[in-house]
Amino acid sequence: MTTIGIIGAGHIGSQVARKAVQLGYDVVISNSRGPETLAELVTELGPHARAATPAEAAAAGDFAVVTVPLKSYKNIPVEPLADKIVIDTNNYYFERDGHIPELDKGEATTAGLLQEHLPTSKVAKGFNHIYAAQITSDGTPPGTENRRALATASDFPEAAELVTKLYDEFGFDTVNIGPLNESWRVERDRPAYAVRQNAAELKDNLAKAPRTI
Ligand SMILES: NC(=O)c1ccc[n+]([C@@H]2O[C@H](COP(=O)([O-])OP(=O)(O)OC[C@H]3O[C@@H](n4cnc5c(N)ncnc54)[C@H](OP(=O)(O)O)[C@@H]3O)[C@@H](O)[C@H]2O)c1
Repeated sequence: MTTIGIIGAGHIGSQVARKAVQLGYDVVISNSRGPETLAELVTELGPHARAATPAEAAAAGDFAVVTVPLKSYKNIPVEPLADKIVIDTNNYYFERDGHIPELDKGEATTAGLLQEHLPTSKVAKGFNHIYAAQITSDGTPPGTENRRALATASDFPEAAELVTKLYDEFGFDTVNIGPLNESWRVERDRPAYAVRQNAAELKDNLAKAPRTI
């Protein structure tokens, strides 16, 4: 049995948890306010889910999903995520997160910032350009014509492979952008962001993305 540690239990965290338990994963899910505030969600998710603190969720996961507002990324526990694959769903909204100059200037990526914060983890971009509700509604079996595709990026091939496998189980094809320093191609307001596209369309959209917006 594989356990996913989920840090962030909002729109995306709860949806990833719903699909994951449906698929037979165990999930340990956390938020900033404490496990007791997640009782309703955990009841809905059933016996393969429990709530915990972020550090406990990180420690319990065979791999983790970090899905918090970007401004909170420096609060993600480092040590319990050491050597683990960490899927980063985060997007940069300066209106919510405050300005982060290296992102504004196109000198960093959102996933790259998380990788710097988690130097001993293997960060991969994932689930950042799909609306939360569609995580449980848009998946289709492998080989479906015009299947929706999602992008990943990582400096670690094994992390991109894990995301590819997870996407496939969730019902999506994968386009691997390459290393994290190319992951800006799927960030906010680029052509590939939050639109439904198959793998060929996603590749085209990634190729035509501008570095800054
Ligand atoms: N919504 C979407 O459709 C969507 C799609 C793709 C990507 N994203 C991106 O994915 C990330 C999460 O989005 P969301 O819509 O799920 O956000 P959300 O609904 O606002 O949920 C954020 C979650 O993060 C938790 N959190 C905040 N700070 C934390 C910390 N220091 N430690 C642990 N948990 C913390 C919050 O817990 P509390 O409530 O207890 O504070 C909450 O459970 C964002 O970066 C967003 O831009 C969102």
